[in-house]
Amino acid sequence: FFARPWVFIRGVPAMKFLPPEGPPEVAFAGRSNVGKSSLINGIVGQKGLARTSNTPGRTQELNYFVPDGFSGEAGDLPPVAMVDMPGYGYAQAPKEQVDAWTKLVFDYLRGRATLKRVFVLIDARHGIKKNDADVMTLLDKAAVSYQIVLTKADKISALALPKLEAATREAIRKRPAAYPAIIATSSEKGFGIEEVQSAIAGFAEV
Ligand code: GTP
Ligand code: MG
Repeated sequence: FFARPWVFIRGVPAMKFLPPEGPPEVAFAGRSNVGKSSLINGIVGQKGLARTSNTPGRTQELNYFVPDGFSGEAGDLPPVAMVDMPGYGYAQAPKEQVDAWTKLVFDYLRGRATLKRVFVLIDARHGIKKNDADVMTLLDKAAVSYQIVLTKADKISALALPKLEAATREAIRKRPAAYPAIIATSSEKGFGIEEVQSAIAGFAEV
């Protein structure tokens, strides 16, 4: 299903607009500008599917993407859905807006029975920050499985990358809901994408 085109089905500005729980979902969380939307585009091989930007705060709703060709009616559900999320930690937007996004993201992450895995994206240049740790703690408490994806790995040296991977592995070792394997990616250069695809494929119901 990564070979077929994917489509945007819904933007969710608040919990009450979530689609009814249906197909397994995987979600992409991370600080503003970390590369969530770019990674989704890399996964499906469609540059413009999720909107990306140099300016943090691009994605403002929970955006649902599914493979094309399913009606969504009972018996014809897509095998999996990907959910792009607003970034956290973006200080430039008005406070009420940031609070609303953060609440939406946190409520969704905590309360969605069909959410199978959260990819927590970490910029390879910056490592895990306090708000990333806060999100991981929330997921640990809610017992929602998550996996670290390092992004923009093209921006650090070939020597720095294994060191960062080792430090990250150590940082999550005692976290109960963290999946131990870490994936290093570059949406720019296209590496690591297949590993994310196979992780997602493992949750699909086909
Ligand atoms: P918000 O929606 O604002 O939270 O951002 P986001 O996490 O969706 O980030 P987005 O995908 O919009 O990417 C932000 C910027 O980082 C864009 O300018 C991308 O081109 C750039 N970018 C994303 N992934 C990579 C990568 O792997 N390598 C490099 N060099 N740049 C990247
Ligand atoms: Mg985005």
